[in-house]
Amino acid sequence: MSIHKPAKTRAMTIHDFHGRKVNGLKLSMVTCYDYCSASILNESQVDCILVGDSGSMVMHGCPTTLGATVDMIVQHTLAVAKGAPDKFIVGDLPFCSYRKSRARTIEAVERIMRAGAQAVKLEGAAGNLKTVRHIVESGVPVMGHIGLTPQSVHGLGGFKVQGRVPEVATRLMREAHELAEAGCFALVLECVPADLAQEITVSLSIPTIGIGAGPHTTGQVLVWHDLLGMSQSFKPKFLKTFLNGFELVRDALNAFDGEVKQTTYPDLKEHCY
Ligand code: KIV
Repeated sequence: MSIHKPAKTRAMTIHDFHGRKVNGLKLSMVTCYDYCSASILNESQVDCILVGDSGSMVMHGCPTTLGATVDMIVQHTLAVAKGAPDKFIVGDLPFCSYRKSRARTIEAVERIMRAGAQAVKLEGAAGNLKTVRHIVESGVPVMGHIGLTPQSVHGLGGFKVQGRVPEVATRLMREAHELAEAGCFALVLECVPADLAQEITVSLSIPTIGIGAGPHTTGQVLVWHDLLGMSQSFKPKFLKTFLNGFELVRDALNAFDGEVKQTTYPDLKEHCY
């Protein structure tokens, strides 16, 4: 008698990212921060996982991603890597962690990679190109991120769509190419007009992964809590929620509370020793 288990999907490699681009295939990425959620993602068709610095907001309640630290990303990466051994994991380099010195940058990269990531992501091109080259030459794949770069929220004057005016669109196009030439294997485009994201995607040889960047990017990324509808207040235009997570979880909690108070849970026959 044989036991048929569904075949585990092999984790992607940077060559698979390139393959998606070359073959015109889409790819999906979802953020994750903990073991339990990672175990679910590991059993899903989602291609890869981002241990994003957005974890500082959705997991730790910080108002921006400036609250993320290397320690925080390392702890989340350790948990996610245990839960999702079959997925390609990208770890975010948090605010300022790659702007102090080469040694401190590589120390942060080393810690995130040793925690179980297969690549790191950093935001922006200006002042980062040598850093990207150095990390890539150290054997670590780098994902770029331009457009709305949340670590620069104060420099950008708020969480705003980027690239609506021609000068900014031209700069974003230039930065996309600079990051690709510096060695990035993929590029996140966050909150840019769909036509600009399309132009950038078509002109690049590396895949783009959009969030609030329209349908023409190679892939799409969403934050776990956002796609599962875990927040009642965060509802940007680009977001589609695929579950009413907030209501479902609240209702389950209320069901538990109700049964405890009505003494229907635990049931003497079913739940007791
Ligand atoms: O930290 C994060 O969640 C991100 C995505 C929005 C791309 O950087």
